[in-house]
Amino acid sequence: MSYTYEYYKAAADYLLDKFGERPEIGIVLGSGLGHFAAQVEAPVAVPYAEIPNFLLSTAIGHAGQMLFGTVAGRRVVCMSGRFHYYEGYEFEQLALPVRVLKLLGIRALILTNAAGAVNLDYKPGDIMVISDHIKFMGASPMRGPNVDEFGPRFFDMGSAYTPALRALALKLAEKSPLTVHEGVYWFSPGPQYETPAEIRAIRALGGDAVGMSTVTEALTASHCKLPLLALSVMTNMAAGVLPVPLTSEEVIETANAIEGPFTEYVKDIIANI
Ligand code: HPA
Repeated sequence: MSYTYEYYKAAADYLLDKFGERPEIGIVLGSGLGHFAAQVEAPVAVPYAEIPNFLLSTAIGHAGQMLFGTVAGRRVVCMSGRFHYYEGYEFEQLALPVRVLKLLGIRALILTNAAGAVNLDYKPGDIMVISDHIKFMGASPMRGPNVDEFGPRFFDMGSAYTPALRALALKLAEKSPLTVHEGVYWFSPGPQYETPAEIRAIRALGGDAVGMSTVTEALTASHCKLPLLALSVMTNMAAGVLPVPLTSEEVIETANAIEGPFTEYVKDIIANI
């Protein structure tokens, strides 16, 4: 199936009608970070199932709604629940959420996710500002007929993770109790966690953290020239680092444990964008 500009616009127009105003900043909330939604003041919530042409969220811990309101005095739209390749979606389908956010008029996008720490200097509970990513997988959300209204057929990924937003996030980290690094996110298709041998290979190839989301959204944002900041919460040491099996319970537990300071940090970023 090929998607047209009108296909995305139908979803955006429906949301604009519900919101009554255009958001300035879009935020995608990752696994276990759904509590950020409670920060949205005067919220208008629209379940994904109601939005024309939208996708349905099946991942555990993802609410599945678009939330419009204000955070730190800025008009934001939060995606409470995102879509992943492991749920069965094709990469081409995964262009939809960010294209809809773009059509809502946002001027910056913040992506958050839970990730495994590959870099041995990181520890669970640390944050990584994503500087770049590696996706060694032959798929792209921009594969198929190009939708020219969003961007060109071939597009640059040299500064996909906007340098000015990364610098802002690192500067604001100085007054946060969180330990914040900057590093490279490795896309892992999932739903299985990686093998210890895969993690050793990822480390040798330059990955600092590994996760199952974010890159489709980052590629889509780059294509339509949307300024982007992406933050990973290190919820666990990656496979093979510690002599324990990885579980989604551990991922959610760590994310919940730093929820307070992480929420404050993201609010501070929103206030200063
Ligand atoms: N690997 C992949 N995805 C993840 C991990 C991990 O270790 N932790 C949280 N999301």
